[in-house]
Amino acid sequence: MVSVEGLIRNGERTFDLLRLADNEKPEMAVVQFFGADPSSFSKSVEILLKQYRPLCIDINAGCSVRKVVKTGAGVALMGNPKKAHDIIKAMKDVDSSLLVSIKFRLGLNYDSVSYLDFAEHAAQAGADIMTLHPRTASQGFSGAADHARTKALKEAFPEKIVIASGDAFEMRSVDEVLSLSSCDAVMMARGLIGNPFAFEGRNKTEVPSDERIAAYNRHYELLKHYEGERKADFLIRKFAKAYLSGIDKCLIDGVSSKASMKNALS
Ligand SMILES: Cc1cc2nc3c(=O)[nH]c(=O)nc-3n(C[C@H](O)[C@H](O)[C@H](O)COP(=O)(O)O)c2cc1C
Repeated sequence: MVSVEGLIRNGERTFDLLRLADNEKPEMAVVQFFGADPSSFSKSVEILLKQYRPLCIDINAGCSVRKVVKTGAGVALMGNPKKAHDIIKAMKDVDSSLLVSIKFRLGLNYDSVSYLDFAEHAAQAGADIMTLHPRTASQGFSGAADHARTKALKEAFPEKIVIASGDAFEMRSVDEVLSLSSCDAVMMARGLIGNPFAFEGRNKTEVPSDERIAAYNRHYELLKHYEGERKADFLIRKFAKAYLSGIDKCLIDGVSSKASMKNALS
C-alpha cells in the first residue's frame, strides 16, 4: 500500500515500497495506491510509469485504519463514490490501457451497505477489476466475510473480473469461497502469514516441521538481503509464531535468527 501523497512529495520511504524483488517481473506486479485526491493519483501513475509498468494498479478503498481513514483515503472513499469515480478516471486519463482495480468493503457500516452502488461508480469510470472484502468498515476483521455479497457483485457485473477477499485461510477455504461467490479469483491475506506453502496448493497443517523451519529461515535470509540485518531481526518477529508454532522446541534449534528465538519459543 503506497501513499500517493508520499510519492508526489518524493518520499524516500514511499519509493522504497515500489521496489521489486530481484526475480520479480514488473509486468506481473500489482501496486496498490491509497489517497483521496484524484490529481495525486494521476501524478503518482506518471511517477510509477517512469520507473516500471506494472500489470495493474489497485486503489485501496477498504483500509479501515484510523490514520488512513481520517485523510479521506481507504474505506472513507466508500462514503464518497463520486471521488472514487474521479480517481479511476484520472488514472485512466494518464494511460487508458493501464489495468486499474479497486478493493473495497460492503460499506461504512450495516446502515450504509453501499458496495453495489460503489461498484457502479467504479465500473462507469472504467475499473477493470473489483476486489470485495465483504465486511463493513465498522466490523474491521470481526464476524464472517459474507461471500453471498461477493456473489451478488459478480452477478451485477459479470463482465468485470471480481476477486473475493476474506476468510480464505487455507486451500480448502479458497475452494469454499470460490464456490460460494462464483467469483473469478480469491485473494488470501492472513492465511498466507507464515504459510508460503499455500502457493503450492498445500495446507500448512500437512507440511512437515523441517520444511516449515526451512521456509522460516529463507524468509529471514530474504529479509536480511532486502532490508539489512538489523531491520530483518525486527521484522521476522512478526512471523516467527506463524511459521513455528506447534513445532517441537528441540527442532527449533535449526532457526537462523537469534533475535527471533525468544519469540519463536514462547
Ligand atoms: C496485516 C494485514 C495487512 C493488510 N494490508 C492490506 C493492504 O495493504 N491493502 C489491502 O487492500 N488490504 C490489506 N489487508 C486486508 C486484506 O487484504 C484482506 O482484505 C483482509 O485481511 C480479509 O482477508 P483474510 O480474511 O483472508 O485475512 C491487510 C490485512 C492484514 C491482516
